[in-house]
Amino acid sequence: MFSIWLICCLPLGTILLAICKSAGGSQLSPEKSLIWGPGLRAEVVLPARYFYVQAVDTEGNRFTVSPGEHAFQVRITAPEEQFTRVGMQILDRKDGSFIVRYRMYATYQSLKIEVQTKNKHIAKSPYILKGPVYHENCDCPQEDVNAWLEEMSCPQSIPQIHRDLAHFPAVDPEKIAKEIPQRFGQRQSLCHYTIKDNKVYIKTHGEHVGFRIFMDAILLSLTRKVKMPDLEFFVNLGDWPLEKKKSPQDIHPIFSWCGSNDSKDIVMPTYDLTDSVLETMGRVSLDMMSVQANTGPPWEEKNATAIWRGRDSRKERLELVKMSRKYPDIIDAAFTNFFFFKHDESLYGPIVKHISFFDFFKYKYQINIDGTVAAYRLPYLLVGNSVVLKQDSIYYEHFYNELQPWKHYIPFKNDLSDLLEKLQWAKDHDEEAKNIAKAGQEFARNNLMGDHMFCYYVKLFQEYSKLQLNDPKVRDGMEKVEQPDEDLFPCNCHRKKVKEEL
Ligand SMILES: *[C@@H]1O[C@H](CO)[C@@H](O)[C@H](O)[C@H]1NC(C)=O
Ligand SMILES: *[C@@H]1O[C@H](CO)[C@@H](O)[C@H](O)[C@H]1NC(C)=O
Repeated sequence: MFSIWLICCLPLGTILLAICKSAGGSQLSPEKSLIWGPGLRAEVVLPARYFYVQAVDTEGNRFTVSPGEHAFQVRITAPEEQFTRVGMQILDRKDGSFIVRYRMYATYQSLKIEVQTKNKHIAKSPYILKGPVYHENCDCPQEDVNAWLEEMSCPQSIPQIHRDLAHFPAVDPEKIAKEIPQRFGQRQSLCHYTIKDNKVYIKTHGEHVGFRIFMDAILLSLTRKVKMPDLEFFVNLGDWPLEKKKSPQDIHPIFSWCGSNDSKDIVMPTYDLTDSVLETMGRVSLDMMSVQANTGPPWEEKNATAIWRGRDSRKERLELVKMSRKYPDIIDAAFTNFFFFKHDESLYGPIVKHISFFDFFKYKYQINIDGTVAAYRLPYLLVGNSVVLKQDSIYYEHFYNELQPWKHYIPFKNDLSDLLEKLQWAKDHDEEAKNIAKAGQEFARNNLMGDHMFCYYVKLFQEYSKLQLNDPKVRDGMEKVEQPDEDLFPCNCHRKKVKEEL
């Protein structure tokens, strides 16, 4: 019934849509609708700040479908200023809730956020953020790391960090500074970082160190926000984890973007996820917020063929594409690129054009299969509203060990031998599959947003710093990594002692 109303109303615009809805008994209530989230707190500095708006009807029931893309109007202004340099977007999650996100290009004394529907304020709007409200580029660290963790509502403890650091009862900066370059320095792409007095220093080892830009960027962003403990550590810029020694003696702490069952590297959020957080509403278009506004049709209307696109970076991917050619009604898997293996078109079909990531969500079943290491698309797949079928794998990102098979995703064997069976299960148990999709999405919404990334890094470095036996040093050959200084709008950090103005 409802969908018929929706279709009849759509071409006529959202005002009529609202009328249809109220006829159906759910009228948007400005007072009962809800607003919450970190973007309403001045002290939560993020590249893109965000908060949520949940539509609630006059009866107090939450909307579970969109009340219309333009149901809410948001205005963000700096009351003291003539212009407010803020970019803002309202993202319709199509489930009755919205993400409002904004990127500030200058720091303001205060910020006023108004959320309205048809000229009526929603919930407790207007919200006044008493500042200073710093923008991402403002170099103004909170001096007390514990106070920062509290302001950010970071979790007390993060299990993966404890698991990773448990291999290292102590870290001797003198020792690792010598031994890690000797062990790995020639063959691998490594960065040796020291953070001292909240300044970042680096020495690179190996030839291919282009990916250091991601690590530099997050470290600079962190030190702008919070005074980091003094640290000395090594980051592996390559795909594969490095520390594979079996004996617990003499293993070295190496920070990597990917962990594995057979190594002892310390995992961090991937460069991909990190970059997408830093560049949200900037250089990148795929991030954990944009996906939420592009999750395709509702579950019932999604195509029940399983979908996969990617490159040929692992032999099981070849298997998957072969399978797809054998069972095209069940799996639509194709390569967008051939690089690692010899391309035999008779076996693997033609190379197909990329499809937009958002188009994946036209399909119910998302296949997640390793590339060279873990497939870094998993966070984005989870936060859509399709169900993820995940290959069992030795590789993991920083959050995989908190995911539960059958709760957040449907597992299948590493060699794909039960994939068809699992897809059949999903078709036979549509309601369960839908619930798994929902739980996966909920997990991603609650654990993989930008603020969670910052919490992870700071907790990780804080815990690691406690293991250091002596003072980190700025070593011979290190260079300082400078904060970007091209910022158009200065930030007037109130935390720094103002130099005497003569
Ligand atoms: C579902 O997707 C498959 C594979 O992409 C396609 O062949 C099929 O036509 C689609 N089905 C519908 C009903 O659109
Ligand atoms: C890797 O370890 C996890 C957690 O202990 C386990 O569930 C998984 O089956 C392991 N995968 C492989 C391929 O060994």
